[in-house]
Amino acid sequence: MAGITNGQFCSKMSVYGFDVLTIGGYNADKNAINAGLKIIERGRHEFNINENELYHHIEEEIKYIKSNTDYHGQVSVNLRSSSPKPIIEISKIKALDIIEINAHCRQPELIESGCGQALLENHKNLYDFISEVVKNCKKKVSVKIRANVSGVDNITIAKAINNAGADYIHVDAMKPGHDYADFSVIESIRNNVDLFIIGNNSIRDLESARRMISSGADGISIARAVINGTIPFDLSSV
Ligand SMILES: Cc1cc2nc3c(=O)[nH]c(=O)nc-3n(C[C@H](O)[C@H](O)[C@H](O)COP(=O)(O)O)c2cc1C
Repeated sequence: MAGITNGQFCSKMSVYGFDVLTIGGYNADKNAINAGLKIIERGRHEFNINENELYHHIEEEIKYIKSNTDYHGQVSVNLRSSSPKPIIEISKIKALDIIEINAHCRQPELIESGCGQALLENHKNLYDFISEVVKNCKKKVSVKIRANVSGVDNITIAKAINNAGADYIHVDAMKPGHDYADFSVIESIRNNVDLFIIGNNSIRDLESARRMISSGADGISIARAVINGTIPFDLSSV
């Protein structure tokens, strides 16, 4: 997801052959919503829905995507929260297939509130967080992480996610200062865990998509390259 990845946007993307469409990331608890308000104040768009309305809002967005009869894939929702509770609650939405815990976003307001990338700071707490979600929800669980965060060991984090019982690890293999992914991160995660790896970062053509797969990812995700509502290469050729 990048930009306004809501039901309408995903519905538009549904014709391109994606297996999963992700909406969000939604700010799902008080801490994340307060952080979202501060981010909005400095002019960025945020999915900052009132806590009481979020469940219904997400439900309607998913229904909108799935009402498109040409789409037979799954829908995932990316949630920012400092605690598992709202994630477990939202996972009860019937039409939802995958719940994604956001341990990725790095806006300072979110990190200060204990959300997004802050979840990577302590692998034991991350393990407990994910275990709680896995234990209490019947949907598949994905955990989105940012790689190469200073002071964070990618493999320790990947093992915590694996041991906590998640179904997917979604890796933004960001290579600071470069406009291509750090494929070595995907290779090393592949060599250490059996999780389904969704490889992400700078996929914009067949070459980068294939490189991600040959590095050990089981799937790829694309954000900025589809921000205008089209995909610049044929997914079925990957
Ligand atoms: C404007 C914008 C908003 C984003 N919002 C989120 C978000 O809410 N949750 C998330 O997990 N990633 C978010 N991302 C990160 C992207 O999903 C993706 O991980 C990142 O852009 C690298 O992939 P790409 O090179 O395909 O864009 C956002 C990225 C952009 C550019």
